[in-house]
Amino acid sequence: MPTESLTITDNRTGKKYEVPIADGTIRAPDLRQIKTSDDDFGLMSYDPAFMNTVSCRSAIAFIDGDRGILEYRGYPIEQLAEKSTFLEVAYLLVHGELPTKTQLADWSTQIANHYMLHENIKKFIDGFHHEAHPMGMLLSTVGALSTFYPESKNIFDAATRRKQIHRLLGKMPTLAAYAHRHCLGLPYEYPDPRLSYVGNFMAMLWKRTGAEDRYTPHPALERALDILLILHADHEQNCSTSAMRVVGSSHPDPFCATAAAIGALFGPLHGGANEEVLKMLREIGSKDKVPDYIKRVKTGEMKLMGFGHRVYKNYDPRASIIKKAAYDVFAVTGTNPMLELAIELERIALSDDYFVSRKLYPNVDFYSGLIYEALGFPAEMFTVLFAVARTAGWLAQWQEMLLDKEQKIARPRQVFTGHRQRTYVPMAQR
Ligand code: ACO
Repeated sequence: MPTESLTITDNRTGKKYEVPIADGTIRAPDLRQIKTSDDDFGLMSYDPAFMNTVSCRSAIAFIDGDRGILEYRGYPIEQLAEKSTFLEVAYLLVHGELPTKTQLADWSTQIANHYMLHENIKKFIDGFHHEAHPMGMLLSTVGALSTFYPESKNIFDAATRRKQIHRLLGKMPTLAAYAHRHCLGLPYEYPDPRLSYVGNFMAMLWKRTGAEDRYTPHPALERALDILLILHADHEQNCSTSAMRVVGSSHPDPFCATAAAIGALFGPLHGGANEEVLKMLREIGSKDKVPDYIKRVKTGEMKLMGFGHRVYKNYDPRASIIKKAAYDVFAVTGTNPMLELAIELERIALSDDYFVSRKLYPNVDFYSGLIYEALGFPAEMFTVLFAVARTAGWLAQWQEMLLDKEQKIARPRQVFTGHRQRTYVPMAQR
């Protein structure tokens, strides 16, 4: 027996079992030996929403939710946000180490080589209604990429996998920018590989066709957007990353798995919360209405969007960095009138026992929308930006899952609560 183990007494049978503990976990299949009879299937653990279930071993992101710590591959998020760029962070997540100068130059070139979309993808985007949500457009066009690159299903070939990683990281900003321009009825702007990753993204979003030969991004705004992408690049086994891993576990190409992850991110309880925060601030309207709104939240009428987190039971470290970045952006764009309201909402919530006792703090989405709005994005684009950034993490996690010998197709169990063995009733007798 290992030195760390758990002794379980089954009070149904009086039998004792010794189950090894490793890394603070027991293996759920070890419970299956616990039976009341030979034909008993064996004990399982019941964990809706995976509140206490570890699904993988991962070396990518570390979170200590009680202390408000987030690290990518061991590097604190604060240092990466201050010193790094999104492309460098994407390399770190995918490859496990910070790149050398040559590696970063090569990585950036490989990704830039994939900025362009097949012209037929533009036709798909044209087909969407002008009021279509850009997340829906992104999800569908990422899924459609699967049909353009059939070789991408060769997921166990390292070179093919690498190429799809470059391809997705390269095409995500282009798809996002084209979705944005489609909503505005503007012609699409081809990518400009002479600009940085973020600068090119800004050019595709905002270059005035016919009025500008070359778009020059404002350095402070370019940096702020880069920081936002860094902060959103990975967050271990959240809902969308789990979707990426679960779908990826049946071995489709990475475009199919990424489309699934985008769908998961779209929900208002996950990445869609940043859009909801802005709607909420608009609904509240002014500082004097905050106490009344908080009262309604406390009666359970609605949730305070941008507050609370499954893992962080302390201030989300990303929210602190974003709050600071907001001031750098507002110094250029002028302040967002909703900022004062958000600060007041945070102040009142954090001094209220309802939020304090439940450890509900602002999460990454609470302030990000205010910056995005100041940068010129409509609310519908907020989650799209999240998806562009999170693609780096999704791909790193997908690759880690594929190379993990312990992983198999994801397939949870259930407790069956329905009828059994009923006799079919003909229509006339129902
Ligand atoms: N406003 C008011 N009450 C809340 C909030 C909130 N934002 N979040 C949680 N609570 C309450 C719950 O009602 C519950 O109260 P109870 O114990 O009296 O029943 C308690 O706090 C615990 O909450 P759970 O729902 O059990 O927490 P869970 O871990 O399941 O949910 C989640 C986490 C989904 C993030 C939740 O806090 C929430 O819905 N927040 C608002 C949406 C949001 O901002 N999502 C973005 C998350 S960050 C991200 O995905 C990038």
